[in-house]
Amino acid sequence: DVRERIDALLAAMTPEEKAGQLTQYFYFSLPPEAEDNPAIGLDVAAQPRAVEAALARGGVGSLLFVTDPAEINRLQRLTVEGNRHGIPALFGFDVIHGFRTILPVPIALAASWDPATIEAGQAVAAAEARAVGIHWAFAPMVDIARDPRWGRIVEGAGEDPYLGAAVAAAQVRGFQGDRLGAEDRVVAGPKHFAGYGYALGGRDYDEASLSDADLWNVVLPPFAAAIEAGAGNVMTAYMGLNGIPATGNRWLLTDVLRDALGFEGFTVSDANAARNLVTHGFAPDLRAAATRSLEAGLDMEMAITDPAFDRLPAALADGEVSAEALDAAVRRVLEVKLRLGLLEDPYVDEERARAVLADPAHREVAREAARRSAVLLKNEGDLLPLDPAALSRVAVLGPLAGSKRDTLGPWVFDFDLDETVTVLEGLRARLGDGVRVDFAPGVPVGQRTFPSMFDMFGGNAPSDPEGFDPEAELARAVRTAEEADVAVVVLGEWQNMIGEAASRSSLELPGRQLELLQAVVATGTPTVLLVMNGRPLDLRWAAEHVPAILDVWYPGSQGGAAVADLLVGDAVPGGKLPFTWPRTVGQVPMVYSHLTSHEPENQGRRYWDEASTPLFPFGHGLSYARFAYADLAVDAEEVGLNGVVEVAVTVRNTAAHDGEEVVQLYLHQRSGTAARPVRELKGFQRVAIPAGQERRVVFRVGPDERRYWNAAARDRVLDPSVFDVWVGGDAAASLGTTFTVR
Ligand code: IFM
Repeated sequence: DVRERIDALLAAMTPEEKAGQLTQYFYFSLPPEAEDNPAIGLDVAAQPRAVEAALARGGVGSLLFVTDPAEINRLQRLTVEGNRHGIPALFGFDVIHGFRTILPVPIALAASWDPATIEAGQAVAAAEARAVGIHWAFAPMVDIARDPRWGRIVEGAGEDPYLGAAVAAAQVRGFQGDRLGAEDRVVAGPKHFAGYGYALGGRDYDEASLSDADLWNVVLPPFAAAIEAGAGNVMTAYMGLNGIPATGNRWLLTDVLRDALGFEGFTVSDANAARNLVTHGFAPDLRAAATRSLEAGLDMEMAITDPAFDRLPAALADGEVSAEALDAAVRRVLEVKLRLGLLEDPYVDEERARAVLADPAHREVAREAARRSAVLLKNEGDLLPLDPAALSRVAVLGPLAGSKRDTLGPWVFDFDLDETVTVLEGLRARLGDGVRVDFAPGVPVGQRTFPSMFDMFGGNAPSDPEGFDPEAELARAVRTAEEADVAVVVLGEWQNMIGEAASRSSLELPGRQLELLQAVVATGTPTVLLVMNGRPLDLRWAAEHVPAILDVWYPGSQGGAAVADLLVGDAVPGGKLPFTWPRTVGQVPMVYSHLTSHEPENQGRRYWDEASTPLFPFGHGLSYARFAYADLAVDAEEVGLNGVVEVAVTVRNTAAHDGEEVVQLYLHQRSGTAARPVRELKGFQRVAIPAGQERRVVFRVGPDERRYWNAAARDRVLDPSVFDVWVGGDAAASLGTTFTVR
C-alpha cells in the first residue's frame, strides 16, 4: 500500500517537485539582535523569505528549527496547500537532551550506564517535541570521542564502542518507540556518519584520518546498534574521512551504511555539508556538489539558504544524474512521511501541546536521570553524604552554582528558565529554613576568545558584569567559606564553552576558578567540589586536596534538586565515567582500550614528566555504599569458536548505605591474527544492592563479544585464543580469570 502510494506520487511529480522533497531549510525565529551576530553572519530577515518562496513553489521537504506549534501549523499549511500533491513537510529539530524539560547532557546520560533511564529520558523528549509538531530529532549523536578538546564530546557517550552502542540503541528506542505514527514519538537520526569525533587536534570540523580497523571496531558499532534498533534517519558528517568528504563519499554512504550496516531509512546532510563539497575542493561547483552527494547516497540536503539540490532538475535534464538515484531518494523521504502518518494528519493540536509540555511527570524523569548520572569521583573520610541535622551554615560558592542557563548545558533552545533549578536553589529547598545557605560566585568563569554561534539563542551573561570587583568578590567568597560548616563549590565550564565549535587547547578550569577553590580549601572548611562539565577537566590539584568531588555534569532542568538529593543522601551516586579522565591535556588522547607493542612496557607509552596513568580510569565512580567483588568463575574453561562462556561474580555491598553498582566485564584476546586491545568492555549491568547484601551477577561472553574487524582479512573474524576476563567497578579491575577458545 505504502509502495503503491509512493509509486503513484513519483509518477505524478516533476523533477522540481522531487528536488523540493529532498531539501531541508533552517527556519529561524530569532530575536532581531541575532542579525548582528558575527558568529553566524546570517541575513535573518532574508532567510524566512527564501523559505516561504520555496514553500510557495511546492519545493520544501523539511524545515528545521521551528518550535512553536502555531508557527509549525502555519508553515505546514503553506506547504500542504502550496504543492499540487498536498505533501506535508517533515519538521526536524535538535532534540538532543530534552525539549522543554531538559535532561542531563548526553555524556551524563551515558554516565548512568543505565539504558532504561536513557530510554525513559528520550521518550519524554520525544513526547514533548512531537506534541509541538516536531517529527524528527537530530539525535542521538553517537560519535565516539577520544579527544576531550573536541567540544562535542558532551553530546555523545564517550570513548567506548560497547557502551556507545548500548546508549545509542536506548536513545533510538526512547525517541521512536515501536511505532513512528504514535503521537508521542519522533524519528531518530544518529549522527554524524562517520568519524566526526576523530577531528584532528580536537578541532571541530577538522579532518578525520582513521584506520579501517578503528572505523569498524570503534566508530561504527554505535551506528550499527542505532540502525539495528530501527533508526529512521542518519545524518552525514561535515568533515573529510581519510580525504574524502563524508557527505560525498559513496563508499561510506552506500557500501558501508546501506550494504554493510543494512540501513534502510533516509539520510540527511549536516548543515550546508552538501554545498561545502565545493569548500572541501571536492566538487567544482554547486551543481556537481548536488549530483555527487546524491549519487553517493545522500537523500536530503540540510541548507541554510540556496540548497545545492535546487540544481538537480537541470542536472537531470543534462544527464548528469540518474532518474533512478533521484527517485530512490524521494522514495525514502516519502516513506518516512507515510510511516509518520503525516499525509493523513499533518497538523498539530496546540491545546494538547501545552498540556504535554506542562506534564509534571516529565520533571520527575529529568530529576531521576540527573541523580543517576552523577559520578562520585572522590569521597575521602566519607564527607558525603552531608547530614542536614548537623549543619547550621552552608557556603555555596562558584560562578556556576546559581546559573540557570549553565545548569541546562548546551544544545537546548525551548527551555524554561523558571522551571530550572540551580544547585543553589536545590540546596536551599532541601535544607529548609533551619540551615542558612550563603552564596557567593567568587570569580568569573572567564571568556571564550570568540563568541559562540549559540549565543544568539540566549547565551550567558557576561562573565565580568559591570561593577564586579574581582578581588572583593573573591574575598567575600572566602569569608563565606570561613563562616560555614561546609563549602560546596560549583566549578566547570560555561555551557557555551562546550558543544559545537567549542574546542579547547587546554583542559584547565577556565578563568580564576582554581584560585577560588584553593582559597576555599585553605580556610580549612570541609569542601565539596561539584564539577559542571561535559568533558574531563584538569583536576589534578583538586583530586589531591579536595576531600569530595562529585561530577554533576550539566544536569538539566531539575539538576539542582537532584544534586541536593545526592549531597544529603536522599539519593546515592552510582554513575560511572564514560571516558578515561586524563591528568592533563598533554596525555590526550588517552583511552583504556589501547594496544601494546613493546618490551619493557614500563618504558613505553608514557611521558617522563607525567604519570602514565589517568586521573580517574574509564568506568570509575564511587558510591556511599562500598562494593567487594569475589568468586569470579567461568562455567567452561574451553569452548569452540562459536561457544558461549558464562562469567559469574559475587558483588557484596559492605556498607550501611543501599547503593547501585555498575558491574563491568572486560575482555582481552591474548593472541590471534591481529593485535587486540589490552582490555575491552564487553558487558555491564547496573545492579541495586541493599546494605549488607550481595548479588551474583552473570555475563554471557559469546562470539559477538569476541568478533572484531581484522585489517588483513578485511572482514570480521573470530580467533582461537586464551582470553583474559576481568570483572569489577572500573577499567582497572584486577579480579580476573581466563578461558580458552579453540
Ligand atoms: O544537528 C546539527 C548538527 O549536529 C550540527 N550542525 C547543525 C545541525 C542542525 O542544527
